[in-house]
Amino acid sequence: MRNSSFEQDGFLVIPDAVSTQTLRTIRRRIREMVDDFDPNGVSTVFSTNDQSHSRDDYFLTSGDQIRFFFEDGVLDDDGHLLVDKHQSLNKIGHAMHDLDDVFRRFCRSTPFADAADAVGMTDPRLLQSMIIFKNPHIGGEVTPHTDHTFLWTEPQSVIGFWLAIDAATEENGCLWALPGGHRLPVKSRFRRTPDDAATEMEVFDEQPYPDEGWVPLEAEPGTLIALHGSLPHRSSANTSDQSRLAFTLHCIEGSAAYPADNWLRRDLPASGFQAANC
Ligand code: FE2
Repeated sequence: MRNSSFEQDGFLVIPDAVSTQTLRTIRRRIREMVDDFDPNGVSTVFSTNDQSHSRDDYFLTSGDQIRFFFEDGVLDDDGHLLVDKHQSLNKIGHAMHDLDDVFRRFCRSTPFADAADAVGMTDPRLLQSMIIFKNPHIGGEVTPHTDHTFLWTEPQSVIGFWLAIDAATEENGCLWALPGGHRLPVKSRFRRTPDDAATEMEVFDEQPYPDEGWVPLEAEPGTLIALHGSLPHRSSANTSDQSRLAFTLHCIEGSAAYPADNWLRRDLPASGFQAANC
């Protein structure tokens, strides 16, 4: 049965879900991934003549890959980095949970499986994973949205599991959510264009979300927050000196239909928490 506060608010905060020792392992692995990342490979893609197409391509084919995405403004016109590469990234995505040994095990560990159970998932499938950096003074704003907009299933089934690796505060850009907002109709859908070459936002409702009623979800390291797929949430830019490293895992129900025009496409099957290969 679903946790009643999740039912009511559309989110569930689980403090101390992940141990300090595990966070240390995850942090070390992220550091290694960025150490091994060659930013020139990506900036070359970004500096081709048809920049938007290349950028789309790099993004659109990342559903079953591990790809690195820069923050806005960290590259010069020639695609060279203006800041240290460890400070330059917005995120890494979107299939660490299948392709990286450390994350494959981590994503199938008890905290995520228990959280999926607590929010009432019956046949959760691991669809998307992201490391979200939000570096000091560089990490940008994430505008109000729902995850269902970006990972569409019929019926709606996506749940986002958001893990604080660093402490998340109002100063460094913690999540904000609109309690109960998961009962509002979803306003838009992000999908591939009919020619499959790009993406577009299909808008059902132009009205912005209300300004009032949002609550900050400040979180200590190790806190796991489950977000209903229709819950409006956002985060501010990080204007502080403290980084706000986070990890997200998005799961969908195995029984739900996953339309082919979702932006995220995978050749890999979306397995459950008990996959044999972990
Ligand atoms: Fe989100």
